Amino acid sequence: MCSAPIRPSEITPEHAYLSRRRFIAGGAALTLGGVGARALSEDWLTGRGFRPGAPIEGEETTPIEYATAYNNFYEFGTDKDDPARYAHEMTVDPWSVEVTGEVAKPGKLGIEDLLASIDLEERVYRLRCVEAWSMVIPWIGFPVKTLLDRFEPTGSAKFVEFTTLHRPDEMRGQRAFFSGIDWPYVEALRLDEAYHPLAILAVGMYGKVLPNQNGAPLRLVVPWKYGFKSIKSIVRIRLTRRPPGTTWNMLQPREYGFYANVNPSVDHPRWSQASERRLPSTLFSPNRIETRMFNGYEEVASLYADMDLRRNY
Ligand code: MTE
Repeated sequence: MCSAPIRPSEITPEHAYLSRRRFIAGGAALTLGGVGARALSEDWLTGRGFRPGAPIEGEETTPIEYATAYNNFYEFGTDKDDPARYAHEMTVDPWSVEVTGEVAKPGKLGIEDLLASIDLEERVYRLRCVEAWSMVIPWIGFPVKTLLDRFEPTGSAKFVEFTTLHRPDEMRGQRAFFSGIDWPYVEALRLDEAYHPLAILAVGMYGKVLPNQNGAPLRLVVPWKYGFKSIKSIVRIRLTRRPPGTTWNMLQPREYGFYANVNPSVDHPRWSQASERRLPSTLFSPNRIETRMFNGYEEVASLYADMDLRRNY
């Protein structure tokens, strides 16, 4: 699937060039809120192009039909097939993202304008869910830092909070009486974590724009952390001085820490984190593999050099 021929981003198609011009010309509109918000059409990515990424050596990319049918997106229900079944009820056109808090230039921008002059690249990453299953997914996106820098974080910014769309009319899980979650879904990173080059905002996967169930049109992907940190369908980003409250941590602080770094030696209170089921996995062929520290992304270790990762799970 991901071996389909892809257009490198060096070849800038005309309309991308034009929208880049629009972004530059519209620089002052950064504080004008949602002007001309438009969605990312199916062929938006084909038009834009992206730099292809390298596969992970020795690990197979998960077939697209697993990555788009076995999901966690509680806004649409708690079963793994609920998001694929119901996420089409979410309107992603128009879509805008607001950036507020400790930034010199707060603003709200339509998704197309927000992305207009950002180069896209493919990153093939492991995704390790806290529930002890994992996949290998070819995302298309860009470093979180690229977006944050646009809004000029102030010297007081220490954390970045991300918020998912809150629209109970279109998200049946948000209407569900028993969900227990205090919507909207919120996640956060320390600013230095968000600035790490491995942390990306994704707009596509498998060479196409993100399907709704995977967090269209814009989601976070932090490959060294448990999947719940990789928040979907983002509408607001807020830079803060203090650690923001995050959905799973507020719900079950003993089970889901703020850091949530993949760590095979710190078990979840109800199950071991030493190994994982790499999908596709069946009863007869479970495909169980050992979980690696930081999900195999050891280059992030310096972010936590002086921290006790047992206490800061
Ligand atoms: N984001 C929102 N808004 N709501 C969610 O329920 N689930 C998280 C994360 N992001 C979730 C979310 C969890 S637990 C995981 S494992 C990943 O999304 C799953 O991403 P995927 O469905 O694209 O594999």
